[in-house]
Amino acid sequence: MSRSAVLAGLGAMVPERVVDNDEIARTIDTDDAWIRTRTGISRRHWVAPGTATGDLATVAGRRALESAGVDSVDLVILATSTPNQPMPATAPEVATRLGMAGVPGYDLSAACAGFVYGLHAAAGSIVAGLSERVLVIGADIWSTRLDPADRATAIIFGDGAGAAVLRAGTADEPGALVGFDLGSDGANRDLAVLPAGGSRQRSRREPLREEDNYLAMRGKEIFTHAVDRMAGSSEALMDSIGWSSEDVDWFVGHQANVRILHTVADVMNVPREQVVVHLDKVGNTSAASIPLALTDAAAEGRLAPGQRVLLTAFGGGLSWGSAALSWPDIKVAGIESP
Ligand code: UT7
Repeated sequence: MSRSAVLAGLGAMVPERVVDNDEIARTIDTDDAWIRTRTGISRRHWVAPGTATGDLATVAGRRALESAGVDSVDLVILATSTPNQPMPATAPEVATRLGMAGVPGYDLSAACAGFVYGLHAAAGSIVAGLSERVLVIGADIWSTRLDPADRATAIIFGDGAGAAVLRAGTADEPGALVGFDLGSDGANRDLAVLPAGGSRQRSRREPLREEDNYLAMRGKEIFTHAVDRMAGSSEALMDSIGWSSEDVDWFVGHQANVRILHTVADVMNVPREQVVVHLDKVGNTSAASIPLALTDAAAEGRLAPGQRVLLTAFGGGLSWGSAALSWPDIKVAGIESP
């Protein structure tokens, strides 16, 4: 059997502070009923002052290592668009805090598709024989980059981190990652953007505008692209590995809006009961969204060994990606705050 990357461990966390829709409605012109109906979100978790993405990533990484029953890996990939600082990368700090000083680590920037991009990079490294075990973490803190006056972003984003350990194995084992489909579209990069701090903004040498510090998202257009790209990518992947819609036991899509998830499932012909929905409790956690949803479903015992799982993510860039795997027999702890 051919060498393959196999899911060996999973862990996730959200910060302690819960922000419900009523709290959002105290500062923004919105209300609980609108947010629930239009997005499916009831609450999210936001960090306390002083907490950085690397702090969340370290906790999730530790939980994934514990779930896999290992204390080190050959490579650490941290998918994030909100690193501790623009330079250096946050992954080396996380690796060192996890007791893996000396292990290579890098940040990967693909917005909400970052975790699936990270799985793809990790699986490539394992299949090529360059690594035996890789830790992939998706972590983001967007709460500190939300425009307090913007109804599109303030209502959906939450903070969190999720992580997976991949190990070398074979394609017929439960847990094997059996296929990927990735894509990007730079022509639509302005649909979700945070301009401050990058080389383009810095080289203008103009005073920083307050709004450049915030995530700007054209919600309606992103919604349409999300549906098209997530459905297109999952169908392309299913075609390439010979899965039909009946072969999908669970569809785990990027958790931005329940209407997106249901529309994509309808296009794929996967029953809505087989869609993992976790955004009601945590909102859109960007690169952490898929590992958080997987961890929650696994910890509740909803994912059974051998079941076929399709992951699909979409975000700014634009970037999107899908991954297919069979579910492994692993122990996964819940997402309680540290
Ligand atoms: O993670 C990366 C990918 N991101 C996404 O996938 C996000 C995708 N986009 C979305 O989830 C949705 O576009 C939003 C949740 C951001 C917005 O929902 P929408 O259904 O697209 O709202 P809209 O912007 O089309 O506005 C519809 C109506 C408008 O009122 P009128 O003009 O119909 O009277 C808005 O003024 O809803 C109003 N509205 C709101 N009302 C209360 C817009 N935002 C809000 C709000 N609260 N927060």
